[in-house]
Amino acid sequence: MKNEEILTSSADETQKIAENFAFTLSAGDCVALHGDLGSGKTTFTQGLAKGLGISHPITSPTFIIMRSYLLKEKKALFYHVDLYRTQDEADIKGIGLDSILKEKNAIVVIEWPEKMGNMLPLETKHIYFEFMNDSERKIRFENN
Ligand SMILES: Nc1ncnc2c1ncn2[C@@H]1O[C@H](COP(=O)(O)OP(=O)(O)OP(=O)(O)O)[C@@H](O)[C@H]1O
Ligand SMILES: [Mg+2]
Repeated sequence: MKNEEILTSSADETQKIAENFAFTLSAGDCVALHGDLGSGKTTFTQGLAKGLGISHPITSPTFIIMRSYLLKEKKALFYHVDLYRTQDEADIKGIGLDSILKEKNAIVVIEWPEKMGNMLPLETKHIYFEFMNDSERKIRFENN
């Protein structure tokens, strides 16, 4: 799955890819989702959450920056973070993201990770989304 480029032709397909990727994750992991507005980051996160066993719908946290969900099976918390509206590193510290990233029992998925600067953990798994046309997106998984 890693270091691989996939062309998906629907939101459903993107979610299925994410669902499979979820099985490679364990507590303590951080995933950075890079890509423009509408490139599929939240759609991917919805599939990821499903793969992690979260049954209630994942909505975009754009207006509230961060949402957390309890993962019963992995005895962990899943954090979905959207930094689009944050201004600076003080904002990011303000929501407590720096300490969440140190938690051993958290899986953290971050949209607009560029906003973190050097606060992003070194071992972060980076995924890049590219808008091709109305129904196609390119997803690239990068090795650490
Ligand atoms: N192949 C595809 N993969 C993912 N989404 C797709 C695809 N084709 C169409 N879409 C649509 O594109 C939109 C992607 O929106 P989404 O909210 O996931 O983007 P985003 O990257 O999170 O944007 P933002 O930066 O605004 O948060 C959705 O409306 C989705 O249905
Ligand atoms: Mg989004």
